[in-house]
Parts: sequence; structure tokens; C-alpha cells
Amino acid sequence: MTAASSTIIGDGLNLVYRRAGAEPVEALKGVSFTIADGEFISLIGPSGCGKTTLLKIFGDLLQPSTGTLTINSQQPATLRREKVIGQMFQDATLLPWKTIGQNIALLGEIAGRRPSREEVQALADMVGIGHFVDSYPHELSGGMRQRAALARAYALKPRILLMDEPFGALDEITREDMNDELVRVWSQNKLTVIFVTHSIAEAAYLSDRVFVMAPRPGRIVADIRIDMPRARRPSERFGPELTRHAEEIHHHLVSNMQRSNAHEPA
Ligand SMILES: Nc1ncnc2c1ncn2[C@@H]1O[C@H](COP(=O)(O)OP(=O)(O)OP(=O)(O)O)[C@@H](O)[C@H]1O
Ligand SMILES: [Mg+2]
Repeated sequence: MTAASSTIIGDGLNLVYRRAGAEPVEALKGVSFTIADGEFISLIGPSGCGKTTLLKIFGDLLQPSTGTLTINSQQPATLRREKVIGQMFQDATLLPWKTIGQNIALLGEIAGRRPSREEVQALADMVGIGHFVDSYPHELSGGMRQRAALARAYALKPRILLMDEPFGALDEITREDMNDELVRVWSQNKLTVIFVTHSIAEAAYLSDRVFVMAPRPGRIVADIRIDMPRARRPSERFGPELTRHAEEIHHHLVSNMQRSNAHEPA
């Protein structure tokens, strides 16, 4: 096993949520994929199609009902113990009684890789909250707190980064800046990134591959390769090539949405 390799194989993943007195929910059904080391993968699909559920299986926060997920032939639990998986979830919360700097340092500290004061400052600068390292979370706006959560995930120096709508609360221009920052972090550190988004443009711009998902049951309905050179420039975001890919993603989203609506009772 080489330390840097982390091919991820999902094989027939099913996940059913069961609650007493409620219909079981097939959050994932028959989900299979192979993700190469260092790929940037986006998950896109309507609300409730199982994106967060799938991400939680990657992060060992949920176990599939059946099927397997292996990362470099190992179980997610092993990698979680080795702290090689960084996560930033939809409801990322900072500890209110710690400063932004202390929050950024937190995951690295838990993993036994406490970042220095300079590293914390550099991370805070990178995500644009350099002046707030000594402030407390309640003193920041929602978008700024999200950036702090992002810096906290980066500080862990993970090999695999799981991100659940990390830029959802940001204004469009800041979001574009954060996209470019993420691409820089990703390419410099040769991470594998699994990124959940509702933005077609963001998925196309960032990804090597986009998995389009559909609900009831949650599944992957298209695996779209964005076959453009990686050094994408911000000016290409709305250029013809990425627009073509965005249209393809849109087409799969819409056609599967209509199909699942067709199954709804009248
Ligand atoms: N703990 C749970 N118990 C029961 N059902 C759940 C649970 N968590 C999620 N679900 C259901 O599983 C399905 C998939 O949920 P999930 O959170 O993975 O969707 P999502 O694609 O991330 O949606 P969104 O875009 O709104 O974040 C939904 O129908 C949801 O209601
Ligand atoms: Mg979700």
C-alpha cells in the first residue's frame, strides 16, 4: 500500500432509513462507482436524493444497509481513525466558546497535528477572515463562519476532503473566489474531493466528474466527465465548453426529475 493512494470503490451501496411507525426511506439504492486517487467529484441532485447520506458513508458517520465502500481497500472507519478524511458538513458548526483561530486549529489538534499560530493565520488569510482569528463565532456573519469551517477542514491536511454544500451561504462573487481557492488547495495537496452542490455552474467548473443523482430511491443517474484541462480560468466559467457541460448536467437533472415526478401519486 502506498501512503498516498486512495482509490475509492463503492459497490452496490444501499441505505434504508427505518423509523418506527414511518415508511422506510430508500435513501440510496444500488450506488456503485470507482473514484481515482486525486479526482474532484461533485454530487448534484434535487433535495432528498441522498447526497448527504452518501457523503456520510464516505466519512464513516453512517454504514450502508448493504454494499461496501472501500478506500484504498480499507474501510472508512480505518481512515477515520487515521484522520485522513476531512469533512465540512452542511450544518458545520463552530464551537461558540472558542475563537475563530482556536476553531480552525481544532481538528488538526484532535488529530495530533496541531497547526502553529502562523499556520492558523495563513489559513484564515486564505479564506479571507484573517482579521478575525481572535473573534468569537457569534461576531461573524454566516458566510464568514462558513469560511472558518472551511479553514478548519483544510487545517487537518486531509487526503480526502468531503464537502457538503460548503459555499451555500456565500454571495456569488465570494463563492467564485472560494472555488478558486479550493482548486488551489486541491491541486497543491493532491487531494481527493467529494463535493456536494446545488449549483450546476459550480459543479462543472470545479470537477473532474459530476455524479448526477435522483431521488426515491436515491441513485446515481449520470456520471459526467468534464473533459477540459484542469487549469481552468475564472474567465472560462461561463465560456462555451463549460456551458456545454452545464447543459449536459442540467439535461440529466431535468429528465430524471420528470421521471421521479411521474411516479408521484396524483
Ligand atoms: N436520519 C434520517 N432518518 C430518516 N430519514 C432520513 C434521515 N436522514 C435523511 N433521511 C431521508 O433520506 C433521504 C435523503 O436525505 P439526504 O439528507 O441524504 O438528502 P440530500 O440529497 O442531502 O438533500 P439536500 O439537498 O436537501 O441536503 C431524504 O428523503 C431524507 O428525508
Ligand atoms: Mg444534504
